[in-house]
Amino acid sequence: MRFFFVSLAFLGLFATLVLPACKHDPLFSGGGDPDPVDTLDPGTTTGWPCSPDSVYFEVQVLPLLISQCAMPGCHDAASHQDGVVLTTYQQVMATGKVKPFNPGGSDLYEVILETDPDKRMPRPPAAALTAEQKSLIRKWIEQGAKNTTCNENYGSCDTTNVTYTNYVGTLMSTYCTGCHGGANPSAGLRLTTYGEAKASGQSGKLYGVIARLPGYPAMPQGGAALSACAVSKVKNWVDKGMPE
Ligand code: HEC
Repeated sequence: MRFFFVSLAFLGLFATLVLPACKHDPLFSGGGDPDPVDTLDPGTTTGWPCSPDSVYFEVQVLPLLISQCAMPGCHDAASHQDGVVLTTYQQVMATGKVKPFNPGGSDLYEVILETDPDKRMPRPPAAALTAEQKSLIRKWIEQGAKNTTCNENYGSCDTTNVTYTNYVGTLMSTYCTGCHGGANPSAGLRLTTYGEAKASGQSGKLYGVIARLPGYPAMPQGGAALSACAVSKVKNWVDKGMPE
């Protein structure tokens, strides 16, 4: 087992050393600053492994709330509609009136279940949360609504064979499509389909915004930066021609 992790560590080091070979890629020239992926933080594979039985606030619930509820004009710190701000744990608990272990008594959960379009969140024309997203929030509250985190790349960061179907699509729907979807997407940009994500990848912007390169707005807006591992997976996907 130990040997396995040591080998992975070497693989990671190897990947970091060969990545600069892609540097001439015209898509990513510009700025002249060091590419953050070239200095991939080895710390991104440490921390806590994720257990499939638990829901983790920082990596599953908060990104969803930021993307689906904290869009400009809604529940970001600047707009704070109805005094509700959903961008930090403390504010989610207080202004979303979350009662640990009691989803039915928690406003945050009640409003996403509403069937009356005048009361439901997110408000139409935004789509309702999916059954999966609703049950994620329910489970998090049932488990005590704690401020928890984990590292989905614990032990290793595998950037090979990244496709839209096995990785990028889920990343977009967790972190981006609340703002970049629906009838009135932020910046006029939709990221809800393979074709849309591919076009953004091709333009260099998808990588620019998540790697937070100079000259690009930092995404997800209002949220923490994606992990270096996630950024490097997306870079690999773009470099490989954005396979579906
Ligand atoms: C909370 C809302 C929100 C979230 C979440 C969000 N964005 Fe954005 N995005 C915006 C806004 C607003 C702009 C315009 C910002 C600006 O130009 O300064 C923007 C701009 C962009 C642009 C630049 C568009 C252009 O043509 O210049 C890209 C690319 C982008 N976002 C990708 C993403 C990706 C990828 C994610 C997920 C990792 C994401 N965004 C998450 C609100 C959001």
